[in-house]
Amino acid sequence: MSNTILVGAQWGDEGKGKIIDVLTEDADIVVRTQGGNNAGHTVFIGSRKYVLHLIPSGILRRNKTCVIGSGVVIDPVSLVGEIQDLRRMKVKVDGNLLISETAHLVFPYHRELDEQREILKGKNKIGTTKRGIGPAYGDKAARTGLRMIDLINPERFEVLLKSRIKENNEVLKAFGAKPISFAKVLADYRLAGDRLRPFVANTVVMLNHASENGANILFEGAQGTFLDIDHGTYPFVTSSNTTAGGACTGSGVAPHRMDRVVGVMKAYTTRVGEGPMPAENAEIADMRHAMGREFGATTGRARRCGWFDSVATRHATMVNGIDELAVTNLDGLDGLETIKVCIGYRIGSKRYDYMPNDIAVLAQCEPVYADFPGWLTPTNRVREWKKLPSKARAYLKAIAELTGAKLTIASVGPSRDQTIFL
Ligand code: GDP
Ligand code: IMO
Ligand code: MG
Repeated sequence: MSNTILVGAQWGDEGKGKIIDVLTEDADIVVRTQGGNNAGHTVFIGSRKYVLHLIPSGILRRNKTCVIGSGVVIDPVSLVGEIQDLRRMKVKVDGNLLISETAHLVFPYHRELDEQREILKGKNKIGTTKRGIGPAYGDKAARTGLRMIDLINPERFEVLLKSRIKENNEVLKAFGAKPISFAKVLADYRLAGDRLRPFVANTVVMLNHASENGANILFEGAQGTFLDIDHGTYPFVTSSNTTAGGACTGSGVAPHRMDRVVGVMKAYTTRVGEGPMPAENAEIADMRHAMGREFGATTGRARRCGWFDSVATRHATMVNGIDELAVTNLDGLDGLETIKVCIGYRIGSKRYDYMPNDIAVLAQCEPVYADFPGWLTPTNRVREWKKLPSKARAYLKAIAELTGAKLTIASVGPSRDQTIFL
């Protein structure tokens, strides 16, 4: 029995989907525990590209059970669409998917409120995915949310929805936005509820029984450490705990049952949306975008890019308890003569070797860089550690050491086989 939590160690889009797909080979169950369809996890199998938003990436392998845990916020109409898309691509989604009955629901008024609040914020906007994630978690915390267990009970659902739409339409009116039609939401959500009913279960009991019986469980993190509602660059964050603790609260599997934490990070840094990013660098961004890379898997937005930031990843090791590191997109640095790594921040003569909590301070931080020689050789065909250029090995070892965890996987391309185990 071995339970693994996988988290993003940066600002999301670290390549978690690819690494989850690789690690799923040794897992029996894959669980999503937080976030919603703001996530976009890309997996390539051969030339086929799959982008998962709510369903764990483990669904792409046979004989694995996938669970959407109670900590996830579910847009049921979008989930039905995702199931249909996967089935169209000949992926089995049947008895192999379970959805927690206590997961909260995302409604059209959440999406509309997300959009309206962003408009109101103007130049201070967060740059959300506009999937209604913040307002849905807000309702959960305010104890005004509806859950899967309500959706599959049509009489109860109708009563609860009516009162929620009434209140939210008042709020939308105050924003000057269009009200939501109760009849339309009811019809759409009833249909989705009917489709999803067979998947809904008490996943807490199921996961704990499976764990007691020796199952290997993989907890698939969404977003990344610095988008965490408590530990990220607040308010430029998402609304869930993206760090390792979220795997316990979002699944009902206790902390002492967890055996290891794997942190996924790119060999450089990317971020989508607003907020400070000290090692941001326009040159790397232009280079990536010219190659058609680093466009968001959910919204298609161009990702901001920068050098590897070891101040950030060291912090990620601390708050997640990262034991092992998977570094992706090493091949993305193949063409560079010199590679910079951020090893500290400074404001004037004041040095920081940690991430300041005040984002106004973080926004002023200048990166302090160390230079590494590039290897100027393609790595995408390499499959063994020893066959990587020595400068690439030195770079990987250095960023792992600065991050403070053991390097166990290096990824040199999006496919399953472009993976090097150490
Ligand atoms: P996630 O949200 O963490 O699952 O990451 P995304 O799927 O949003 O973004 C990561 C992108 O990098 C996807 O397009 C992946 O196919 C791609 N990717 C993952 N690992 C590698 C790698 O080692 N090399 C290259 N070139 N692409 C990779
Ligand atoms: P995966 O799982 C990257 C970002 C948004 C925005 C902020 C808040 O693919 O790594 P939200 O819609 O959650 O309220 O947006 O968080 N964001 C992500 N960035 N990858 C993600 O997911 C993200 N999910 C949310 O861009 O800055
Ligand atoms: Mg993504």
